Amino acid sequence: MSQATEQTTSRDSRGATAPIIQAIEASRDYELAGETVHAVRSVNLEVHAGEFITLVGRSGSGKTTLLNMLAGLDNPTSGRVLFEGVDLAGFSEKQFTHLRRHRIGVVFQSFALLPLLSAYENVELPMRIAGVGASRRSVRTQEVLEMVGLERRAKHRPYELSGGEQQRISIARAVAMRPDVILADEPTGELDSVNAAAIFGLFREMVTDEGMSIVATTHDHTLLDLADQIYTVHNGELDLSEVGRHIDADAQFKRLDPVEDPGPDSTAEPTDG
Ligand SMILES: Nc1ncnc2c1ncn2[C@@H]1O[C@H](COP(=O)(O)OP(=O)(O)OP(=O)(O)O)[C@@H](O)[C@H]1O
Ligand SMILES: [Mg+2]
Repeated sequence: MSQATEQTTSRDSRGATAPIIQAIEASRDYELAGETVHAVRSVNLEVHAGEFITLVGRSGSGKTTLLNMLAGLDNPTSGRVLFEGVDLAGFSEKQFTHLRRHRIGVVFQSFALLPLLSAYENVELPMRIAGVGASRRSVRTQEVLEMVGLERRAKHRPYELSGGEQQRISIARAVAMRPDVILADEPTGELDSVNAAAIFGLFREMVTDEGMSIVATTHDHTLLDLADQIYTVHNGELDLSEVGRHIDADAQFKRLDPVEDPGPDSTAEPTDG
């Protein structure tokens, strides 16, 4: 189905598009050593197609817990999370598999790269699992590695990359399959200000040009101007702090710093076997 058709069919009677992800009074408690931690409290949030949402909040305020619930990686203790109107609580294993392979891309706060695979292989793996053909996989892997400025680090294993480079590889991996939604947890936490702005610029571009939706947490207030909506997470609760601050991504955001001189033998190698 074309994107245009999808959008038409998901419009309600008022002409508004239905949210792609919706949290309804979603809460998450953790029980630990006889104590209850209310990590997320009765959160209501709608993520629409073509929307860039940022979540800001202090450490421990509940951002990761909320993102994990939106991704279907964790279940709310009470309340619901819907994906295209369907409660994730009722999803079968098969539906979750489809969701994770094709619809949602996650950038983990801890990167979650596989240590024995090269940067190239880490980025390529989800496409391989999803059954994308070898030549398309190779083209797309090169493309997203270039997008994050790391085509020259394709052969490096995660431990042979800097923290910021690992972070950019985890972003490349999440966007490679062109998911409908990217949920990115502190995607610029390890980056310098120039590269952080470039990543947010890239996100802005994907939202504006490809109609993707992005929810990203950040501590960096200089990046917020690129988002459509900014929510503050405080003690597990969500407050809409600002709407419509969207400015077009400036040309200066469009290219990440490529890494320096690759040396004689470090061209990207499509490993196909
Ligand atoms: N598995 C768990 N068991 C018990 N408590 C937990 C667990 N995971 C998180 N918490 C608690 O829930 C609260 C919210 O944690 P969360 O990781 O969502 O915060 P955060 O906003 O992402 O913080 P940061 O900015 O440091 O990443 C914290 O107080 C944390 O200690
Ligand atoms: Mg966190």
